[in-house]
Amino acid sequence: MSWKEEEKKRAALESAKLVKTGQVVGLGTGSTIYYVVEELGRRVREEGLKIIGIPTSNQTEAQAKGCGIALTTLDEHPQIDIAIDGADQVDPNLNLIKGMGGALTREKIVDSAAKYFVIVVDESKMSNKLGINQPIPIEVIPMALTPVMNKIKSLGGNPIVRQPTKTNSKYFVTDNGNFVIDADFGEIKNPEKLEIDLKMIPGVVENGLFINMTHKVYVGEKTSVKVIDKETKS
Ligand code: A5P
Repeated sequence: MSWKEEEKKRAALESAKLVKTGQVVGLGTGSTIYYVVEELGRRVREEGLKIIGIPTSNQTEAQAKGCGIALTTLDEHPQIDIAIDGADQVDPNLNLIKGMGGALTREKIVDSAAKYFVIVVDESKMSNKLGINQPIPIEVIPMALTPVMNKIKSLGGNPIVRQPTKTNSKYFVTDNGNFVIDADFGEIKNPEKLEIDLKMIPGVVENGLFINMTHKVYVGEKTSVKVIDKETKS
């Protein structure tokens, strides 16, 4: 396993200790959260942990089912006790860019419904400013693609439509049947304002700026895990 995978796994195992019996748990998406879901599944099977999960993607849903985690919906449990998710970039205020896996909309819905929101990353994801070498993923209704691209340009962004990885379709398609634009804004001076400006574009379903949501971050480092709490940051 590479250093980076070890960092992800170390942080993931540590974060999974936060989950307690009886909780409704938001399950994020991505290669880091994979380890969290595996560990929660292990605890369900081997330690009798009783939880109900709400997945943020078809991929996580399949993994959680496969490892024995009971699942529910936001209709049945609109309030989540704890959500654990990955991120593509984390700034010192614990604001995030998410969505390189394409699950940003369901992630923002689930993560924002959680009383406690935890992020798990390896150290390469930490950045002094959001946007440095990291585009913002933006989920878009397909028929709105071109006008949304133009509006992103007028906000100062450089948009690229995400390409598919394996399928025959022209563009990457989300679990919701939409496209994703990756918009490079360079270093983002005011992420709060940009999140709202992007939200206001007709045809944008959601954007990958997650502002003032995170309570705790687990950062996997070479030999340890750094834990950063929101309370100690603001
Ligand atoms: C999914 O859409 C994303 O928001 C992921 O949570 C994020 O991209 C982190 O993924 P990795 O853990 O695979 O880097």
